[in-house]
Amino acid sequence: MVDLRTRLGSHELRTPLVAASGTVGSVVDCVAVSAFEAYGAAVAKSVSAEPWEGRPAPRLAPVGAGMLNGIGIQNPGIAAWVERYGPALAKVPTQVWGSTVGTTPAEFAQVAAALSGAGVAAIEVNLSCPNLEQGRMYALDPIASAGVVAAVRDATTLPVGAKLSPNAPDVTAVAAAVAEAGADWVVLTNTVWGAAIDIETRRPALSGSVGGYSGQGLKPVAMRCVWEVHQAFPELPIIGCGGVRNGGDVIEYLMAGASAVAIGTSHLADPRCGARIRDQVEAWCRRHDVAAVTELVGSATPW
Ligand SMILES: Cc1cc2nc3c(=O)[nH]c(=O)nc-3n(C[C@H](O)[C@H](O)[C@H](O)COP(=O)(O)O)c2cc1C
Repeated sequence: MVDLRTRLGSHELRTPLVAASGTVGSVVDCVAVSAFEAYGAAVAKSVSAEPWEGRPAPRLAPVGAGMLNGIGIQNPGIAAWVERYGPALAKVPTQVWGSTVGTTPAEFAQVAAALSGAGVAAIEVNLSCPNLEQGRMYALDPIASAGVVAAVRDATTLPVGAKLSPNAPDVTAVAAAVAEAGADWVVLTNTVWGAAIDIETRRPALSGSVGGYSGQGLKPVAMRCVWEVHQAFPELPIIGCGGVRNGGDVIEYLMAGASAVAIGTSHLADPRCGARIRDQVEAWCRRHDVAAVTELVGSATPW
């Protein structure tokens, strides 16, 4: 029997798998089609203070070894979210985390407080959103990111994870800043910017022209972020995220220094993929005489 439990600081997860924000809806409305019992946690789609309409179609496009999306974080706003999903959170067969997004630190904090009141188990801070004052994504800048995390920290007693971007010029500096501001862990990473052109229509594949690239092609980019941050701060808990399709990908992230691993785009092709991936992780551990997945965390040795 392999011990699949893991920890993010003092926060315990039943397995190292996390369902990534935006790929399992509100979590509540995906219970019937997902295998949430295989996950340590499932993260709801990011939610803002007021409703956001999102971008017009087209907002998804398969590209190369992955996918582009430019959804624009469509969501009903925090008041409707709490009313609609709050009462059902306890029925989900894993921990549900909320994801806060906004254009000012105060908006992030307002949403985090309301999510906490609704009964989520942790708050993820989606820093891949433009800063109202500077017009740049928060996650690009250590100081702006720390400001958001500090505001969220003050607004909740729940564990807080900061979701960073591979577009940051120095992801290690951003990780250090958010940890200092009170984040209990970092999520590495969100999508990387990408674009594609339809050569028949001569138009961008997405209505927003540029969007987030996810899936298999993102994996080495996110893995680099996990590696760099773990090498710089071995004590900072990390959730690896990007291009996970099988148990081997999970093992690789754990070896690079992640304590848990999130699955995103794979859900769009196979909503129940978590059960298969958990079984593959367990089988790999059995084959390699690994009694507990925590033994693997950061176990890759630099040359
Ligand atoms: C359609 C779609 C919607 C997403 N929406 C969100 C979101 O609302 N909040 C967020 O933090 N990340 C969002 N993400 C990013 C994923 O959570 C994940 O970080 C990213 O897709 C990389 O993982 P993957 O390669 O396994 O998909 C979204 C991704 C996709 C594909």
